Amino acid sequence: MEDPKTAAVLSRMLGQAGRSLEMRPSRMTRAAERLRGETLTASTIVPVDRETSNPLADVILAADLPQVGPVLPAAMATSIDALLQEWSNIDRLREGGVEPAMSALIYGQPGTGKTQLALWIGRQLHLPVVAARLDGLISSCLGTTSRNIGALFAFAERYRCLLLLDEFDAIAKMRDDPQEVGEIKRVVNTLLQSLDARKTVGPTIAITNHETLLDPAIWRRFDLQIGMPLPTREARIEMIHRYAPPLELTDTQVVFLSWCLSDVSGSEIETFLRSLKRSYLLNEDPTKFSLLGAVRSYVSLNANRLATRRASALAKDDEALALALRRDPDASPVDLGKLFGVHRATINRWLKSSSGGELAHA
Ligand SMILES: Nc1ncnc2c1ncn2[C@@H]1O[C@H](COP(=O)(O)OP(=O)(O)O)[C@@H](O)[C@H]1O
Ligand SMILES: [Mg+2]
Repeated sequence: MEDPKTAAVLSRMLGQAGRSLEMRPSRMTRAAERLRGETLTASTIVPVDRETSNPLADVILAADLPQVGPVLPAAMATSIDALLQEWSNIDRLREGGVEPAMSALIYGQPGTGKTQLALWIGRQLHLPVVAARLDGLISSCLGTTSRNIGALFAFAERYRCLLLLDEFDAIAKMRDDPQEVGEIKRVVNTLLQSLDARKTVGPTIAITNHETLLDPAIWRRFDLQIGMPLPTREARIEMIHRYAPPLELTDTQVVFLSWCLSDVSGSEIETFLRSLKRSYLLNEDPTKFSLLGAVRSYVSLNANRLATRRASALAKDDEALALALRRDPDASPVDLGKLFGVHRATINRWLKSSSGGELAHA
């Protein structure tokens, strides 16, 4: 157990942890039935690019969509909840003469859970997701690209679905080719018109890692713009709890790991914990598993995956690391004795020798 003071701070902090999105089926179930269109099934034929025969979309049926959403900061979870409400009550809003917001652009760094969020929203709405394959859509022959966009939106109009345009900046990137300016304008126009027309049909989510590449006209086309943040400390703690099992962690270890994981994405957090679990499970004697040792070995094998300031602190010896932790409010309240597996007196001696004494009893 942690000392009582640490335990009290920890429990207060964990109580405020970032809220994961939970299922609230009672309020969402009807969304699928309220939209027009035929029902997608596993045998529905998906349109293809005429030249390459590559499919223009992947269909993911509602039952195959993720049951858990990404961990989000509380304020954002509330906004997403509001969006789900809106999309579940499209007809009610329209009866009241209000057009619902039908399109959302999700932007943010890679690995922050954007795709997971979009797919999870489909699941919540009981809607299959038609995920456009932008690689298949964008043909080397630009005339074909416009035609493909038309075919994709026609498909999404025919069937009840959530249309997902992942890695949407691929369209924006086409602008780089100066030879094709006129043709590219046509493609972008087709896209803008298709997006507008879709607003009376069904929900659309576009995703980009490079929002600055997007044309302002495209950006404005979306009713909502949702920025996915890097996880806050509370969100990191919740992710650690989600991805750690079967590795059991003490509260001090959780706070320490969340310190190690400052400024990294959810996907990096998952990768990091997977690596710790591998070390744990491969340990001959699990009681001898050293979390700190496993973290250090991860750092030495994965240069640049953690924030530089964390990686460099972790590469130092125990005394220097203990001092860095003690000095950093983000690492509070970590019980250093427990973390390093040494007596409190030893920690005090380390802190005294490396800091000239001022931190030893802090
Ligand atoms: N906020 C988060 N909460 C929980 N898990 C996350 C989060 N962000 C990323 N992940 C994990 O990383 C995986 C990849 O994330 P993904 O949705 O593909 O990110 P993006 O689309 O933003 O690049 C997710 O499936 C999930 O397992
Ligand atoms: Mg993605």
